[in-house]
Amino acid sequence: MAGNREYFNRKLHSLLGVIPVGLFLVQHLVVNHFATRGASAFNQASHFMESLPFRYALEIFIIFIPMLYHAIYGLYIAFQAQNNTGRYGFFRNWMFRLQRISGIILLIFIAWHVWETRIAAAFGAEVNYNMMADILSSPFMLIFYIVGVVSATFHLANGLWSFAVSWGITVTPRSQQIATYVTIAIFVVLTFIGIRAILAFINPDLAVL
Ligand code: HEM
Repeated sequence: MAGNREYFNRKLHSLLGVIPVGLFLVQHLVVNHFATRGASAFNQASHFMESLPFRYALEIFIIFIPMLYHAIYGLYIAFQAQNNTGRYGFFRNWMFRLQRISGIILLIFIAWHVWETRIAAAFGAEVNYNMMADILSSPFMLIFYIVGVVSATFHLANGLWSFAVSWGITVTPRSQQIATYVTIAIFVVLTFIGIRAILAFINPDLAVL
């Protein structure tokens, strides 16, 4: 019985990491990337997201609750991690460890990021291009945001690899090898989009690479 519950919790944690949390991350990075087209393009894209019907219900049920569940259960998994040195090679062992480390970094980063944007907005601050430009003008915050975004893109891309294994999508060693290449490509593309957007807030010219 307890085993069944553990299995269900694991599966739910895994699924929520991709749908909806992973999808939300991709959507968020794409909206941020509008900053490369200038302040008004970014403001327009983010105001469009804010004006969606049922915004609060969407935020609570599609983002907040799934993220909270994934984060809390993720912390529990991270601290009872069993390393599979015997079963997997050196590379996969490191990916396994980095998945947990990036999860913990994400927890800190997301808590701070939500505090200074979404919670600040609830208290009347306007979340727009200028607000992000102001935050990222501090070198410390710039590094913090770069580390946070790279942790998120790594965590999602590497998580997709283990998701494919745990849901029986990649069973053979060959399909798992192909999944490694595909998820590395996803990591590179998402990181490029994420970093390019951050740079657009400090200097719009830097984004035109
Ligand atoms: C941007 C936010 C996040 C996204 C998109 C995300 C996505 C994912 C995905 C897709 C997986 C793979 C699921 C699987 O292996 O089947 C995963 C696994 C994991 N996540 Fe997250 N996650 C996020 C935030 C967090 C946070 C804040 C934590 C807190 C520590 C966390 C901890 C974990 C852990 C420990 C695993 C490994 C689970 C396992 O090996 O069974 N994640 N995540």
